[in-house]
Amino acid sequence: MSQAFVPVAKVQDVPSGAVKYVDVNGTPIALCNIEGHLYAVGNICTHDGGPLSGGTLEEHTIECPRHGARFDVRSGKVVCLPAPVPIPTYEVRVEGDVVNVNPAPRVGVNAGSP
Ligand code: FES
Repeated sequence: MSQAFVPVAKVQDVPSGAVKYVDVNGTPIALCNIEGHLYAVGNICTHDGGPLSGGTLEEHTIECPRHGARFDVRSGKVVCLPAPVPIPTYEVRVEGDVVNVNPAPRVGVNAGSP
């Protein structure tokens, strides 16, 4: 059964260039605003559990504040070590001024593409 979208923040809570931690039904997620486009990724770095919501955005990547791994927020893919595997990504839907996230990880985003 697919999960429903959950309201997590107001649009103005996540200005361009910002990262905001949200708990979506127990799933820790980092909401990222890159030039006005919102992305939701898992908050836990796959290297050693660093909190990505404390990281910084650069182009379409988020950098872990602990050891500098970087992930593409669009796909979750690792673009800079030392993280070994991708992070999950989640669907975002904006309705009015409310940001909604589906806490079910997007399927197939990282699969199959080299
Ligand atoms: S915990 Fe994120 S790079 Fe080490």
